[in-house]
Amino acid sequence: MNTALLSFVRDAQLRTSNGSWRTTHRGRLKTFDETLVKLLPNRERPYLVVDVGVSSGITTLDLIDALEKAGHALKVVALDRVTGCSFVKLFPGAYALAEDSGHFLGALVFGVPVRETTSGSRLDYLTGKALIKKLVAASFHWRVQRQKDRKPVPLIVSELARRSNVEIKKLDILTQPLPEGVDVVRLANVVQRTYFSERDIARIAASVLHCCSAGAIIVLAHDSPNGELQGSFLRIADGSCAVVARIGRGSEVENFFTGRIR
Ligand SMILES: C[S@@+](CC[C@H](N)C(=O)[O-])C[C@H]1O[C@@H](n2cnc3c(N)ncnc32)[C@H](O)[C@@H]1O
Repeated sequence: MNTALLSFVRDAQLRTSNGSWRTTHRGRLKTFDETLVKLLPNRERPYLVVDVGVSSGITTLDLIDALEKAGHALKVVALDRVTGCSFVKLFPGAYALAEDSGHFLGALVFGVPVRETTSGSRLDYLTGKALIKKLVAASFHWRVQRQKDRKPVPLIVSELARRSNVEIKKLDILTQPLPEGVDVVRLANVVQRTYFSERDIARIAASVLHCCSAGAIIVLAHDSPNGELQGSFLRIADGSCAVVARIGRGSEVENFFTGRIR
């Protein structure tokens, strides 16, 4: 795979088949990591940390570095419903990426990225450029679905995959159970109203609460495109889940997690 394609796979903002975006960047959750360090007491046993919706895993590396620097031993499960994809050569100079399901993620045509749902500017709509992009993407989608010769491409950075205390898991938090006995669960830029219905958020919250050990911390983090950080830190204690710290206005979904745990 050439370098342009490699960085496209790792860095491009791709929309996955459930409508969520694969976007992340190093240092994005620094403020959240610093707050978590303050909240986590020292202990002998390693903490079991589950990071949900890791995308390329760049912010998981940041989290591990912050916690290990603070002296904590860790076992980390980094999970995402899309941990790998495949690429196909459409024609010389044009490559497309697809999820295992065949869902078209995007293409690189002579170094120019083409994505299925590129939100075009007003000018793009007026000049018809947005429509052309959509048509090109639709035709690539059609070709990818029919192309048998696909090469697998990991979407998680190799630096994370190489860590001996990290397990990378392909898991859909909406439909599959999380590992049990978790000490820290982080849901960063995943569980939000733009991606999930209220019913689905309630279902995810129940699954997260079920996997937590006594004293566990749940981190709900969100950074909006205008750079505003919002998040809540919740702790499980005495059969209840309560907010122990907030960043900005707090998480828009914290109320799904708080209260008595059944
Ligand atoms: C915007 S990225 C967040 C990446 C990273 N956590 C961060 O904050 O920088 C959202 C990620 O959540 C994943 N995701 C969306 N729905 C999911 C689900 N139901 N189960 C697991 N992962 C999911 C997407 O595949 C995507 O990689």
